[in-house]
Amino acid sequence: MHAKSRHNVRYSSLIFILFMLMLVLVGIGVFAVSVLAGSLETIKQVPVPRSNPQTPEKIELGKKLFFDRRLSGDGTMSCATCHNPEQAFADGLDISLSYPTTKNWRNSPTLLNITFQKRFFHDGRAKSLEEQALFPMMSAFEMNKNLDYVEEQIRVVPEYVEAFNKVFGAEATRERIAMAIAAFERTLVSGSNPLDRFLKGDQQSLSAEALKGFEIFKGKGGCADCHYGPSLSDNQFHALHVPENPVLMDDPAVTATMRFVAKVSHYKDYRTLVEDPGRYLISKNRKDWKAFRTPTLREVSRTAPYMHNGIFVTLEEVIDFFDRGAGKGNTVLKPLGLTAEERKYLRTFLVEALSGEEQAFQYPVIP
Ligand code: HEC
Ligand code: HEC
Repeated sequence: MHAKSRHNVRYSSLIFILFMLMLVLVGIGVFAVSVLAGSLETIKQVPVPRSNPQTPEKIELGKKLFFDRRLSGDGTMSCATCHNPEQAFADGLDISLSYPTTKNWRNSPTLLNITFQKRFFHDGRAKSLEEQALFPMMSAFEMNKNLDYVEEQIRVVPEYVEAFNKVFGAEATRERIAMAIAAFERTLVSGSNPLDRFLKGDQQSLSAEALKGFEIFKGKGGCADCHYGPSLSDNQFHALHVPENPVLMDDPAVTATMRFVAKVSHYKDYRTLVEDPGRYLISKNRKDWKAFRTPTLREVSRTAPYMHNGIFVTLEEVIDFFDRGAGKGNTVLKPLGLTAEERKYLRTFLVEALSGEEQAFQYPVIP
């Protein structure tokens, strides 16, 4: 064998080794994806960004701000007005409350387990809870507050001056107000539920009917394709074409709000808009037309009415919607063909297995 072909042999075995290595890596990747996707999890750890660590003092400050009506223009509304602890931190309406004389256009989502989401709002327009918190304050149809003004109002309250100094070593700013509120929101985590106990090995925690419902949730219903992870959300956007809430066009004040949001989202044809474009408003990507983020299903029995526009009042209606293969014109889902019994089991699972142990809520004293 002369030098050149020996060289070739070494070269080809190197390529062979690299090729095998690639196969192994691809194999590991496929395995990881198939194990991770669709897996249901208990709550092990609450994600906290390194830039805003949790401290008890910061959480307490954030809680006070969350309930403080100073954060709204006319002093009548706090965050808790639309995210009420007694209503699973939502407001129980199809279309949420709004700043006096204006109308809102979407449903107020529960803030329970919000820390597990990666994008905030139904269309995912905010990337962090810190970023999100300033939106409702500034929004013309939510709290309608001037942020320079709220900073000065907070800076003249001795108790807040002291608290901001203690927590941040600095005075109140809009960013620090948002950081404290976000820290508080990260504590809004459900108590352990029967599904958690089941996943930890307690076979008795689900009733026979809920267990059948769980099988449908993972199997025939395909629900766990999108509702998985610790809060039963894949954090993705899906164009299910949920029916519009008629109020969007029937009430001119709601139409105005919809078109205003579209305008500030740089949607060109906002003046003629007659439906909620969903994620499209943010991405301007055709595939996101009428796509919304998958919501958490923890505590779902307490978060009616359902969907981004509260169009479904009961879980039966939601299950029927998925059974029909979701909304007209969608290309994401197909009819499921569930029997009446199967739909009932699915509902039992959602109600029984996903409701956490009750937790007492301590209201703050506002300075
Ligand atoms: C007037 C009612 C109202 C008030 C007041 C209000 N919100 Fe909301 N909140 C909503 C609605 C409606 C949405 C959904 C809007 C959307 O997706 O376009 C929302 C969404 C959110 C979300 C995102 C939830 C998710 O699932 O992604 C968070 C977090 C939140 N609000 C926190 C707050 C905080 C903090 C305050 C106070 C600074 C506040 N809200 C004040 C109605 C309100
Ligand atoms: C392709 C992904 C996908 C599949 C599969 C799926 N969902 Fe959903 N689910 C979503 C999205 C996205 C929404 C929110 C739609 C909106 O707000 O307009 C949602 C909303 C819901 C809601 C309303 C929650 C709330 O608080 O508003 C319930 C309940 C629900 N799904 C249950 C189910 C059940 C039960 C199944 C199986 C039969 C299922 N989902 C299958 C993506 C999915």
